[in-house]
Amino acid sequence: MELIVIGSSNMDLVINVPRIPRVGETIIGTSSDMIFGGKGANQAVAAQRAGGKVSFITKIGEDAYGLKMKEHYQREALPPAMILNDKDEPTGVAQIWVSDQGENSIVVAPGANMKLMPEDIARFKAEIAQAKFVLIQLEIPIQTVEYIVSLADSLNTPVILNPAPAQALSNRLLENIWMLTPNESETELLTSIKIVDLESAKVAGKRLLEKGVKQVLITLGEKGCFLCNEQGFQAFNAFPANAKDTTAAGDVFNGTLAVGLTQNKPLDEAIRFASAAAAISVTRKGAQPSAPYKQEIQDFLIEQG
Ligand code: RIB
Repeated sequence: MELIVIGSSNMDLVINVPRIPRVGETIIGTSSDMIFGGKGANQAVAAQRAGGKVSFITKIGEDAYGLKMKEHYQREALPPAMILNDKDEPTGVAQIWVSDQGENSIVVAPGANMKLMPEDIARFKAEIAQAKFVLIQLEIPIQTVEYIVSLADSLNTPVILNPAPAQALSNRLLENIWMLTPNESETELLTSIKIVDLESAKVAGKRLLEKGVKQVLITLGEKGCFLCNEQGFQAFNAFPANAKDTTAAGDVFNGTLAVGLTQNKPLDEAIRFASAAAAISVTRKGAQPSAPYKQEIQDFLIEQG
């Protein structure tokens, strides 16, 4: 496969709420849903739907959610051999509140995701060697992330790391990253620089380049994104969208971006392709159901001119 996504699978238990509750408060929600999620799975499904040739390495539990996920990944044409099971831990679960304003709050109980170990990844060394890119996030053990990055580096397969959810990363890890795609708060955690404008994004991007990352793409939500690499700095606008639910918009962006890159699109074109997919996704509810198909992205881009 051209793109290997490695990461988490969660069942998202979503409650729509008029507003995000305060600590200690009970409020009444308007509706609830059970939706396929997890940053890894969201990125893999988004990439597959955007026209990628994608494999997804993940670990789920031997329970009802895990069973549903297996069937779902099969429907999404993700190869079953890489969907691993853990017999002790439950499938990952995320509790998500989505407010009427489209804001969200997420708590993840990772379960089997934290049992995805370096030895599980080592089984797929040949596939990683053949891939054009590996795409990962941080909802699996950090030692596994470190192993993937050093394995991919030894095999000359470039790694795109979406450092979400935010956590501190070693310089040793960062220097082997081909592209890092933090959002504003992840950038702040990694650099101690608060992103308030393009100038602060530039300073933070430079700091990450100094740590050895080859290029940094800081995502700024509705404000677009900011690319920093040895060619310089470039800001990209987001497409206007009437946001209903921003859950997984970043995942859709990352998965689609990676597909554009595997298809040898120039970087600015791949970013435009990914921005279009993210703009479509925020108009839809839920994580994976919000990921658009290639034709929808292409039609959107034509409409935008
Ligand atoms: O990025 C959104 C995802 O974060 C959700 O699908 C949830 O499962 C958490 O992993």
